[in-house]
Amino acid sequence: MANLISVTTDCQKAQNKNFTSSVLVVDDEVSIRNGLVFLLRKEGYAPLEARDGREALRKVRDERPDLILLDMMMPKLNGLEVCRILKSNEDTRLIPVVLITAVHSHEEKIRAIEAGADDFINKPINIAELRARVRSLLRMKHLNDLLDKADNVIAALANAIEAKDKYTEGHNERVSGYSVALAQATGISEAEQKILRMAGILHDIGKIGVPDNVLNKPGRLNRDEFERIFLHPEEGEKILAPLRCLSGVRDVVLYHHERYDGTGYPRGLKGEQIPFCARIVAIADSYDAMTSTRPYRQAFSRGKAIEELENRAGQMWDPALVRIFVAWLNENGDSHWSKSSSNKE
Ligand SMILES: [Fe+2]
Repeated sequence: MANLISVTTDCQKAQNKNFTSSVLVVDDEVSIRNGLVFLLRKEGYAPLEARDGREALRKVRDERPDLILLDMMMPKLNGLEVCRILKSNEDTRLIPVVLITAVHSHEEKIRAIEAGADDFINKPINIAELRARVRSLLRMKHLNDLLDKADNVIAALANAIEAKDKYTEGHNERVSGYSVALAQATGISEAEQKILRMAGILHDIGKIGVPDNVLNKPGRLNRDEFERIFLHPEEGEKILAPLRCLSGVRDVVLYHHERYDGTGYPRGLKGEQIPFCARIVAIADSYDAMTSTRPYRQAFSRGKAIEELENRAGQMWDPALVRIFVAWLNENGDSHWSKSSSNKE
């Protein structure tokens, strides 16, 4: 619960920050820098300054501005290089960057877009145009911040549910880690890897409705209790439905207990009818469950769990993905994620 409270407070901070957005001005020409800083301050923003690309990267790291106005032509590290570095870094890629250029050529604009710039402005700067673009990009940045915080609230909720179940400590984080590792080994896009990172954390969020005495039952579950557990994928999907930022995660939550031969739940999908990311999480989830201690059995060794994956590939899991995952396990081991206790599917 402490996590939830701190995330909510962050959310409020993000909203309040609308009034004091910080804008980093990067230009080697002092007169232009001073002019932009003066204008931004007059508009109610908190301007920051950097004289070159290297100083800009330091300021971004230390001050986390909400927007960057970046001169294209600078000594040492030019604007395009700074932009590329910021946009390739997971921590800074969502900060909007406006490239400012004195060159009006079409090729220059294409290079700015390729570097990941969100917008560009020509010199001499038209004040009304700059004001409008700054305002619109900051609005977008704050919306992104709020969506990001919503992700965090949901992840905190998933961890709170995990804390309800004494047999699943650390399970969500490990499923997330294994899923991303398997996704990377298959070469799928970074966007899908991001979905999997979140889906691993959230896959069992539907267990919020499962009573504690069922989750923590030391023996085997009876039929009614199993039926209660079987509802968790659909309940999880319903919880996430209003959150558009998690739309890609919903299918994984809904289908993570489908089996490759069509005997899983809730829909009995078969083979490639099961969404690719859900097939990945199914393997990660099962492997972590097998290698974790349960109230009624000891954890499988890695070798035994691999044997089980291979024996039931094609029945439980996508055989091509099992091959890739086993190769990854053999190459990397599974010591990336520490394990203290364990899991009830
Ligand atoms: Fe599950």
